[in-house]
Amino acid sequence: MYTQGLDQSGRGDSAKSGGESKEQLDAFQARIDAEEKIEAKDWMPEAYRRTLIRQISQHAHSEIIGMQPEGNWLTRAPSLKRKAILLAKIQDEAGHGLYLYGAAETLGVSRDQMVADLLSGKAKYSSIFNYPTLTWADIGAIGWLVDGAAIMNQIPLCRCSYGPYSRAMIRVCKEESFHQRQGFEIMLTLCRGTEEQKAMAQDALNRFWWPSLMMFGPNDSASKHSAQSMAWKIKRFSNDELRQKFIDVTVPQADFLGLTIPDDKLRQNEETGHYEHSEIDWQEFFEVISGNGPCNKERMAKRRKAHDDGAWVREAARAHAAKKADASAAA
Ligand code: 3HC
Repeated sequence: MYTQGLDQSGRGDSAKSGGESKEQLDAFQARIDAEEKIEAKDWMPEAYRRTLIRQISQHAHSEIIGMQPEGNWLTRAPSLKRKAILLAKIQDEAGHGLYLYGAAETLGVSRDQMVADLLSGKAKYSSIFNYPTLTWADIGAIGWLVDGAAIMNQIPLCRCSYGPYSRAMIRVCKEESFHQRQGFEIMLTLCRGTEEQKAMAQDALNRFWWPSLMMFGPNDSASKHSAQSMAWKIKRFSNDELRQKFIDVTVPQADFLGLTIPDDKLRQNEETGHYEHSEIDWQEFFEVISGNGPCNKERMAKRRKAHDDGAWVREAARAHAAKKADASAAA
């Protein structure tokens, strides 16, 4: 079991781990280049394993922490139907976290270790979930923009070179696309409603636009993992390429809603067809991923409390498993 003595967060991905010959590394890269899937029992470079553990566990943590901003509106959803839909969506996020922890476990890391790394602050989760959900329109904006950005990033992960991750992503993406549509539909309803409702939708877009663009990660020039992850076909597109695709599909959707993207410099380049935009506030991004965003402390405190409150369930499950093991040993 790949638990102790290695940096589970994957820091030092490029660190050499002894015993890997050039022949092994070349043969591995040839499999990647031939678009073969790498499976759990296959030989793989330690750095590839660590990169996957880092990315998949961060992804799983994002799904789990991502339940909190939406959970904030469960008791205040404007109708029973909206509440049922939101509840289903939040349950989907929990499911995504579980498939992803499962995919990471195939790499030899234990779930306990991944959870410990989240709770200690060693492992990251997506920056976006450190922003508050102040109004019902934020639930629409999260579905439309956050799930929209998540799909843009995650569809290519269905073709990731690591088999268990790529297969988990297929189902995740199907569900994310439902999430995106329900968010857009909330925004559409608000935009076709009263002036106050439309203003609420515009305010949610104003607050969630830039953090949604940050979800794709730093600019390519500052993305320390991208080059290697792309060579290994874990990532298929760079952070900036995916961010641009997201902007290009989302601006016309904002136009359709009659909302204004909060960026004075946003304009379509007639030659390339792409939208050009203002510089992202990278200082804000790095503050958020360093633990200093508006809700980082609150999110982690709530996660730690949920973990502590669930201790009795884990103890009961262990006691039950031990009883069953004793019974089958005695039989
Ligand atoms: N939030 C937090 N940390 C981020 C980040 C973000 N938005 N973007 C980048 N980072 C971190 C990276 O993890 C890395 O830190 P580390 O070395 O300590 O791990 C550092 O910033 C440098 O970034 P890189 O571009 O070099 O890192 P990656 O190559 O890993 O690319 C990524 C970052 C694009 C987020 C990539 O990891 C990825 O595609 N991950 C899988 C998808 C994912 O995790 N999505 C999270 C959102 S899931 C979700 O939103 C749920 C849904 O229901 C809405």
